[in-house]
Amino acid sequence: MLGIEETGRKTDMSEKSSGQSVAPRRSGGWIPSDSGRDGGKLCAPAVERNTAPILEVLGSLIAETDSPPRNALELASGSGEHAIAFARAFPDIVWQPSERDPAGLDSIAAWRAEAGHDNLLQPVAVDLDAESWFQHVAGPVDLLVTCNLLHISPWHVTLNLLAGAGQLLSPGGILFVYGCFSRAGDFVSDSNRSFDQSLRLRDPAWGVRDTDAVAEIASANGLAVSRIVPMPANNTALLLRRA
Ligand SMILES: C[S@@+](CC[C@H](N)C(=O)[O-])C[C@H]1O[C@@H](n2cnc3c(N)ncnc32)[C@H](O)[C@@H]1O
Repeated sequence: MLGIEETGRKTDMSEKSSGQSVAPRRSGGWIPSDSGRDGGKLCAPAVERNTAPILEVLGSLIAETDSPPRNALELASGSGEHAIAFARAFPDIVWQPSERDPAGLDSIAAWRAEAGHDNLLQPVAVDLDAESWFQHVAGPVDLLVTCNLLHISPWHVTLNLLAGAGQLLSPGGILFVYGCFSRAGDFVSDSNRSFDQSLRLRDPAWGVRDTDAVAEIASANGLAVSRIVPMPANNTALLLRRA
């Protein structure tokens, strides 16, 4: 495992043995891509493992939707590798990646330039620390996607995500959230419990979120949980819909 901590040294965005994705406290938490050192492409090793299962769930979700999404906004796109995979797998959707970390934004742009997908837009800066984040992106949005964000951010980021989703999503629009969750107050595994402890040690404001707690806030914002899908390595995909 590599790590760049505060001085630009190597860091670790990979899934630990528990299978969850971790990020450094500060920006710059990715490994330079083998082929992209000059262009700024960064690599999160966990992406290689979790992309196929994520695409499978997203694909089945899209396939069963009466009016398939035409546009999508990814929040906390990280290195941008998921965005490339999304754009390739779902060419009928226009994908808007976003990130708050400048190194992440550069990486997304570099991967995008190399991939050349017409349906993948230039990344935009979005910081969910701000309650008003959704006012700075074009809406309405048919599909919102975010992976591995909620446990690595303070609870207000979850609140802001759900409030913004309620404002930005088109009627019937989907919010897809992938990551490490507890279910009805219970950790789904011992490794998830340890992961939660390790997150809180790194930052007391971080921590594994509970699906029930997310559902409650979602409901207050006009969103309802439509499906909870167990994913490999004790992860979870949470699918919510706007009324
Ligand atoms: C564990 S990484 C996940 C990256 C990518 N989604 C993935 O699964 O590989 C967490 C990401 O959340 C981003 N992030 C953290 N806090 C954020 C915030 N307040 N607003 C937007 N992005 C944030 C970080 O910059 C980082 O890219």
